[in-house]
Amino acid sequence: MDIVASGIRPTGFLHLGNYFGALRNFIKMQNENKCFFFIADYHSLTTHPHPSDLQTNVRNVLIDYIAAGLDPEKATIYVQSDVPQVCELSLLLSMNVYVGELQRVASFKEKVRRQPNNVNAGLLNYPVLMAADILLHRADKVPVGKDQEQHLEMTRDFAQRFNHIYQQEYFKLPVAYNFGNELVKIPGLDGSTKMSKSDNEASCIYLSDAPEVVRKKVMRAVSDSGPTEPGQPKSQAVENLFLLMKAVSTPDTVQYFEDQYQACQIRYGDMKKQLANDMIAFLQPIYERILELRSKSDYISKVAREGAEKARESASKTVRDVREIIGFKAL
Ligand code: TRP
Repeated sequence: MDIVASGIRPTGFLHLGNYFGALRNFIKMQNENKCFFFIADYHSLTTHPHPSDLQTNVRNVLIDYIAAGLDPEKATIYVQSDVPQVCELSLLLSMNVYVGELQRVASFKEKVRRQPNNVNAGLLNYPVLMAADILLHRADKVPVGKDQEQHLEMTRDFAQRFNHIYQQEYFKLPVAYNFGNELVKIPGLDGSTKMSKSDNEASCIYLSDAPEVVRKKVMRAVSDSGPTEPGQPKSQAVENLFLLMKAVSTPDTVQYFEDQYQACQIRYGDMKKQLANDMIAFLQPIYERILELRSKSDYISKVAREGAEKARESASKTVRDVREIIGFKAL
Protein backbone atom coordinates (compact mmCIF):
# COMPACT_ATOMS: atom_id res chain seq x y z
CA MET A 1 0.00 0.00 0.00
CA ASP A 2 1.41 3.38 -0.99
CA ILE A 3 1.94 6.09 1.56
CA VAL A 4 0.43 9.46 0.74
CA ALA A 5 1.13 12.78 2.48
CA SER A 6 -0.22 16.22 1.77
CA GLY A 7 -1.09 19.42 3.55
CA ILE A 8 -3.00 22.65 3.22
CA ARG A 9 -2.00 25.94 4.78
CA PRO A 10 -4.73 27.27 7.06
CA THR A 11 -5.14 30.77 5.70
CA GLY A 12 -8.93 30.85 6.10
CA PHE A 13 -11.89 28.82 4.93
CA LEU A 14 -11.44 26.32 2.12
CA HIS A 15 -12.89 27.28 -1.24
CA LEU A 16 -14.00 25.48 -4.40
CA GLY A 17 -10.48 25.78 -5.81
CA ASN A 18 -9.10 23.85 -2.83
CA TYR A 19 -11.88 21.32 -3.20
CA PHE A 20 -11.31 20.54 -6.87
CA GLY A 21 -7.55 20.93 -6.53
CA ALA A 22 -6.34 18.94 -3.56
CA LEU A 23 -9.29 17.89 -1.46
CA ARG A 24 -11.17 15.83 -4.02
CA ASN A 25 -8.01 13.84 -4.70
CA PHE A 26 -7.48 13.31 -0.98
CA ILE A 27 -10.98 11.90 -0.67
CA LYS A 28 -10.39 9.42 -3.48
CA MET A 29 -6.95 8.41 -2.25
CA GLN A 30 -7.90 7.68 1.34
CA ASN A 31 -9.56 4.42 0.27
CA GLU A 32 -6.56 2.77 -1.36
CA ASN A 33 -3.54 4.25 0.40
CA LYS A 34 -2.11 4.93 3.80
CA CYS A 35 -2.80 8.66 3.94
CA PHE A 36 -1.49 11.49 6.10
CA PHE A 37 -3.37 14.73 5.61
CA PHE A 38 -2.33 17.64 7.74
CA ILE A 39 -3.01 21.29 8.31
CA ALA A 40 0.27 23.12 7.76
CA ASP A 41 0.03 25.67 10.54
CA TYR A 42 3.81 26.08 10.91
CA HIS A 43 3.93 27.03 7.26
CA SER A 44 1.23 29.62 7.76
CA LEU A 45 3.53 31.47 10.20
CA THR A 46 5.63 32.56 7.22
CA THR A 47 2.98 35.19 6.61
CA HIS A 48 2.50 36.07 10.33
CA PRO A 49 -1.17 35.37 11.07
CA HIS A 50 -2.67 37.06 14.12
CA PRO A 51 -2.45 34.63 17.06
CA SER A 52 -6.21 34.59 17.55
CA ASP A 53 -6.74 33.65 13.90
CA LEU A 54 -4.32 30.77 14.02
CA GLN A 55 -6.43 28.36 16.03
CA THR A 56 -9.68 29.46 14.39
CA ASN A 57 -8.26 28.89 10.92
CA VAL A 58 -6.89 25.48 11.82
CA ARG A 59 -10.20 24.46 13.29
CA ASN A 60 -12.15 25.69 10.29
CA VAL A 61 -9.93 23.82 7.86
CA LEU A 62 -10.30 20.63 9.89
CA ILE A 63 -14.08 21.04 9.83
CA ASP A 64 -14.08 21.73 6.08
CA TYR A 65 -11.85 18.70 5.48
CA ILE A 66 -14.17 16.33 7.31
CA ALA A 67 -17.34 17.89 5.92
CA ALA A 68 -16.00 17.50 2.39
CA GLY A 69 -15.46 13.79 2.94
CA LEU A 70 -12.09 13.12 4.56
CA ASP A 71 -12.65 10.26 6.93
CA PRO A 72 -10.59 10.15 10.14
CA GLU A 73 -11.24 6.40 10.30
CA LYS A 74 -9.47 5.90 6.98
CA ALA A 75 -6.84 8.64 6.84
CA THR A 76 -4.60 10.16 9.48
CA ILE A 77 -5.74 13.76 9.71
CA TYR A 78 -3.64 15.98 11.92
CA VAL A 79 -2.39 19.43 12.73
CA GLN A 80 1.27 19.89 11.75
CA SER A 81 2.28 21.63 14.99
CA ASP A 82 0.96 18.67 17.00
CA VAL A 83 3.84 16.68 15.52
CA PRO A 84 6.94 18.75 16.32
CA GLN A 85 9.19 15.91 15.10
CA VAL A 86 8.83 17.60 11.73
CA CYS A 87 10.96 20.48 13.05
CA GLU A 88 13.81 18.20 13.94
CA LEU A 89 13.71 16.52 10.55
CA SER A 90 13.57 19.93 8.87
CA LEU A 91 16.62 21.09 10.84
CA LEU A 92 18.56 17.95 10.00
CA LEU A 93 17.68 18.16 6.31
CA SER A 94 18.57 21.86 6.19
CA MET A 95 22.24 21.08 6.89
CA ASN A 96 22.48 19.70 3.38
CA VAL A 97 20.47 22.41 1.66
CA TYR A 98 22.13 25.43 0.10
CA VAL A 99 20.92 28.98 0.59
CA GLY A 100 21.40 29.64 -3.12
CA GLU A 101 19.02 26.90 -4.19
CA LEU A 102 16.38 28.16 -1.77
CA GLN A 103 16.74 31.71 -3.06
CA ARG A 104 16.04 30.50 -6.59
CA VAL A 105 12.67 28.90 -5.72
CA ALA A 106 9.80 30.49 -7.65
CA SER A 107 7.45 30.65 -4.64
CA PHE A 108 10.15 32.38 -2.58
CA LYS A 109 10.80 35.00 -5.25
CA GLU A 110 7.05 35.56 -5.52
CA LYS A 111 6.80 36.11 -1.75
CA VAL A 112 9.71 38.53 -1.81
CA ARG A 113 7.76 40.55 -4.36
CA ARG A 114 4.52 40.33 -2.40
CA GLN A 115 5.81 40.96 1.12
CA PRO A 116 9.14 42.80 0.73
CA ASN A 117 9.03 43.90 4.36
CA ASN A 118 8.70 40.39 5.70
CA VAL A 119 11.29 38.23 3.97
CA ASN A 120 11.80 36.00 6.98
CA ALA A 121 14.05 32.94 7.21
CA GLY A 122 10.98 30.71 7.56
CA LEU A 123 9.96 31.77 4.10
CA LEU A 124 13.36 30.82 2.71
CA ASN A 125 13.21 27.52 4.54
CA TYR A 126 9.64 26.77 3.41
CA PRO A 127 10.65 24.04 0.93
CA VAL A 128 12.77 22.28 3.56
CA LEU A 129 9.91 22.18 6.06
CA MET A 130 7.63 20.93 3.32
CA ALA A 131 10.12 18.23 2.38
CA ALA A 132 10.22 17.24 6.05
CA ASP A 133 6.40 16.99 6.09
CA ILE A 134 6.56 14.48 3.29
CA LEU A 135 9.69 12.54 4.24
CA LEU A 136 8.52 12.32 7.84
CA HIS A 137 6.11 9.61 6.74
CA ARG A 138 8.34 8.34 3.94
CA ALA A 139 5.56 9.05 1.49
CA ASP A 140 5.45 7.70 -2.07
CA LYS A 141 2.84 10.08 -3.43
CA VAL A 142 1.90 13.67 -2.78
CA PRO A 143 -1.39 14.92 -4.20
CA VAL A 144 -0.75 18.57 -5.04
CA GLY A 145 -1.47 21.04 -7.80
CA LYS A 146 0.93 22.29 -10.43
CA ASP A 147 2.05 25.22 -8.28
CA GLN A 148 3.68 22.80 -5.83
CA GLU A 149 5.68 20.80 -8.32
CA GLN A 150 8.92 22.68 -7.79
CA HIS A 151 8.64 22.08 -4.05
CA LEU A 152 8.19 18.41 -4.69
CA GLU A 153 11.16 18.27 -6.98
CA MET A 154 13.22 19.78 -4.18
CA THR A 155 11.87 17.19 -1.78
CA ARG A 156 13.23 14.51 -4.09
CA ASP A 157 16.57 16.33 -4.32
CA PHE A 158 16.88 16.55 -0.54
CA ALA A 159 15.88 12.92 -0.09
CA GLN A 160 18.35 11.75 -2.70
CA ARG A 161 21.09 13.90 -1.23
CA PHE A 162 20.49 12.40 2.20
CA ASN A 163 20.56 8.87 0.79
CA HIS A 164 23.75 9.67 -1.09
CA ILE A 165 25.59 11.34 1.78
CA TYR A 166 24.80 8.57 4.21
CA GLN A 167 25.04 5.82 1.62
CA GLN A 168 21.64 4.34 2.39
CA GLU A 169 18.44 4.06 0.40
CA TYR A 170 16.48 5.35 3.35
CA PHE A 171 14.07 7.85 1.83
CA LYS A 172 11.83 7.02 -1.08
CA LEU A 173 11.60 9.70 -3.77
CA PRO A 174 8.01 10.95 -3.62
CA VAL A 175 6.14 11.94 -6.75
CA ALA A 176 3.42 14.50 -7.33
CA TYR A 177 0.11 12.85 -7.85
CA ASN A 178 -2.97 14.14 -9.55
CA PHE A 179 -5.78 12.63 -11.47
CA GLY A 180 -4.60 14.01 -14.79
CA ASN A 181 -7.55 14.73 -17.03
CA GLU A 182 -9.96 14.62 -14.19
CA LEU A 183 -8.28 17.68 -12.74
CA VAL A 184 -10.79 20.51 -12.96
CA LYS A 185 -9.36 23.98 -13.02
CA ILE A 186 -11.30 26.38 -10.87
CA PRO A 187 -11.00 30.04 -11.87
CA GLY A 188 -12.14 33.10 -9.93
CA LEU A 189 -15.48 34.91 -10.34
CA ASP A 190 -13.61 38.13 -11.06
CA GLY A 191 -12.10 37.06 -14.38
CA SER A 192 -8.86 35.80 -12.80
CA THR A 193 -7.61 32.39 -13.89
CA LYS A 194 -7.33 30.91 -10.42
CA MET A 195 -9.76 31.00 -7.51
CA SER A 196 -7.76 32.44 -4.66
CA LYS A 197 -8.76 34.30 -1.57
CA SER A 198 -5.63 36.42 -1.42
CA ASP A 199 -6.61 38.43 -4.47
CA ASN A 200 -10.27 39.11 -4.00
CA GLU A 201 -12.69 37.69 -1.44
CA ALA A 202 -15.71 38.13 -3.70
CA SER A 203 -14.10 36.03 -6.42
CA CYS A 204 -14.03 33.04 -4.14
CA ILE A 205 -16.78 30.54 -3.23
CA TYR A 206 -16.13 28.98 0.17
CA LEU A 207 -17.39 25.51 1.03
CA SER A 208 -19.00 27.14 4.05
CA ASP A 209 -20.77 29.94 2.15
CA ALA A 210 -24.50 29.96 2.83
CA PRO A 211 -26.69 29.43 -0.28
CA GLU A 212 -27.70 33.12 -0.41
CA VAL A 213 -24.04 34.12 -0.31
CA VAL A 214 -23.16 31.73 -3.14
CA ARG A 215 -26.02 33.12 -5.21
CA LYS A 216 -24.99 36.71 -4.62
CA LYS A 217 -21.35 36.06 -5.52
CA VAL A 218 -22.22 34.13 -8.68
CA MET A 219 -24.73 36.73 -9.86
CA ARG A 220 -22.04 39.39 -9.48
CA ALA A 221 -19.42 37.41 -11.40
CA VAL A 222 -17.68 39.27 -14.18
CA SER A 223 -18.87 38.49 -17.74
CA ASP A 224 -18.78 40.56 -20.94
CA SER A 225 -21.17 42.14 -23.44
CA GLY A 226 -21.67 38.86 -25.33
CA PRO A 227 -20.42 37.49 -28.63
CA THR A 228 -21.38 39.38 -31.78
CA GLU A 229 -20.36 36.81 -34.37
CA PRO A 230 -20.27 33.00 -34.43
CA GLY A 231 -16.96 31.42 -33.50
CA GLN A 232 -15.83 34.45 -31.53
CA PRO A 233 -13.39 33.28 -28.82
CA LYS A 234 -14.59 33.63 -25.25
CA SER A 235 -13.21 36.30 -22.99
CA GLN A 236 -11.40 34.98 -19.89
CA ALA A 237 -14.32 35.97 -17.65
CA VAL A 238 -16.84 34.05 -19.76
CA GLU A 239 -14.50 31.11 -20.16
CA ASN A 240 -14.40 31.09 -16.36
CA LEU A 241 -18.20 30.85 -16.09
CA PHE A 242 -18.07 27.82 -18.37
CA LEU A 243 -15.25 26.21 -16.40
CA LEU A 244 -17.18 26.65 -13.16
CA MET A 245 -20.27 25.25 -14.79
CA LYS A 246 -18.33 22.21 -15.98
CA ALA A 247 -17.34 21.55 -12.40
CA VAL A 248 -20.81 21.61 -10.85
CA SER A 249 -23.44 21.27 -13.61
CA THR A 250 -24.45 18.36 -15.85
CA PRO A 251 -22.84 18.07 -19.32
CA ASP A 252 -26.25 18.78 -20.90
CA THR A 253 -26.51 22.07 -19.10
CA VAL A 254 -23.02 23.10 -20.14
CA GLN A 255 -23.80 22.12 -23.75
CA TYR A 256 -27.01 24.15 -23.72
CA PHE A 257 -25.17 27.35 -22.79
CA GLU A 258 -22.32 26.51 -25.14
CA ASP A 259 -24.84 26.29 -27.99
CA GLN A 260 -26.41 29.56 -26.89
CA TYR A 261 -23.01 31.18 -26.88
CA GLN A 262 -22.16 29.87 -30.35
CA ALA A 263 -25.50 31.16 -31.65
CA CYS A 264 -24.76 34.58 -30.08
CA GLN A 265 -27.95 34.26 -28.07
CA ILE A 266 -26.46 33.70 -24.65
CA ARG A 267 -27.90 35.61 -21.71
CA TYR A 268 -25.32 35.64 -18.97
CA GLY A 269 -27.99 36.44 -16.38
CA ASP A 270 -29.69 33.13 -17.16
CA MET A 271 -26.41 31.29 -17.20
CA LYS A 272 -25.42 32.69 -13.81
CA LYS A 273 -28.82 31.80 -12.34
CA GLN A 274 -28.34 28.22 -13.47
CA LEU A 275 -24.74 28.18 -12.26
CA ALA A 276 -25.76 29.53 -8.85
CA ASN A 277 -28.47 26.87 -8.49
CA ASP A 278 -26.14 24.04 -9.49
CA MET A 279 -23.37 25.28 -7.27
CA ILE A 280 -25.69 25.56 -4.29
CA ALA A 281 -26.97 22.02 -4.92
CA PHE A 282 -23.42 20.76 -5.25
CA LEU A 283 -22.30 22.39 -2.01
CA GLN A 284 -25.42 21.64 0.01
CA PRO A 285 -24.36 18.37 1.65
CA ILE A 286 -20.93 19.81 2.51
CA TYR A 287 -22.46 23.02 3.83
CA GLU A 288 -24.88 21.10 6.05
CA ARG A 289 -22.11 18.96 7.50
CA ILE A 290 -20.04 22.06 8.19
CA LEU A 291 -22.86 23.58 10.22
CA GLU A 292 -23.29 20.33 12.11
CA LEU A 293 -19.57 19.92 12.84
CA ARG A 294 -19.24 23.48 14.07
CA SER A 295 -21.50 22.55 16.96
CA LYS A 296 -19.55 19.39 17.80
CA SER A 297 -16.39 20.78 19.27
CA ASP A 298 -15.66 17.67 21.35
CA TYR A 299 -15.70 15.54 18.24
CA ILE A 300 -13.34 17.90 16.40
CA SER A 301 -10.91 17.89 19.33
CA LYS A 302 -11.02 14.11 19.41
CA VAL A 303 -10.25 13.85 15.69
CA ALA A 304 -7.27 16.19 16.11
CA ARG A 305 -5.99 14.32 19.17
CA GLU A 306 -6.26 10.87 17.62
CA GLY A 307 -4.79 12.07 14.32
CA ALA A 308 -1.82 13.59 16.15
CA GLU A 309 -1.19 10.33 17.99
CA LYS A 310 -1.10 8.30 14.81
CA ALA A 311 1.07 10.85 13.01
CA ARG A 312 3.54 11.04 15.90
CA GLU A 313 3.98 7.30 15.80
CA SER A 314 5.08 7.37 12.18
CA ALA A 315 7.11 10.57 12.69
CA SER A 316 9.03 9.37 15.74
CA LYS A 317 10.14 6.28 13.94
CA THR A 318 11.55 8.28 11.02
CA VAL A 319 13.31 10.77 13.26
CA ARG A 320 14.80 7.95 15.31
CA ASP A 321 16.12 6.27 12.15
CA VAL A 322 17.49 9.53 10.74
CA ARG A 323 19.30 10.39 13.97
CA GLU A 324 20.88 6.99 13.99
CA ILE A 325 21.89 7.19 10.32
CA ILE A 326 23.47 10.61 10.88
CA GLY A 327 25.38 9.26 13.83
CA PHE A 328 23.76 10.66 16.98
CA LYS A 329 24.38 8.15 19.71
CA ALA A 330 23.83 8.13 23.41
CA LEU A 331 27.08 8.58 25.35
N1 TRP B 1 2.91 24.27 0.31
C1 TRP B 1 1.60 23.67 0.25
C2 TRP B 1 0.62 24.71 -0.31
O1 TRP B 1 0.82 25.88 -0.15
C3 TRP B 1 1.14 23.21 1.61
C4 TRP B 1 2.01 22.13 2.14
C5 TRP B 1 2.84 22.21 3.22
C6 TRP B 1 2.15 20.82 1.61
N2 TRP B 1 3.49 21.04 3.41
C7 TRP B 1 3.09 20.16 2.44
C8 TRP B 1 1.58 20.15 0.53
C9 TRP B 1 3.48 18.83 2.19
C10 TRP B 1 1.97 18.83 0.28
C11 TRP B 1 2.91 18.19 1.10
O2 TRP B 1 -0.37 24.32 -0.88
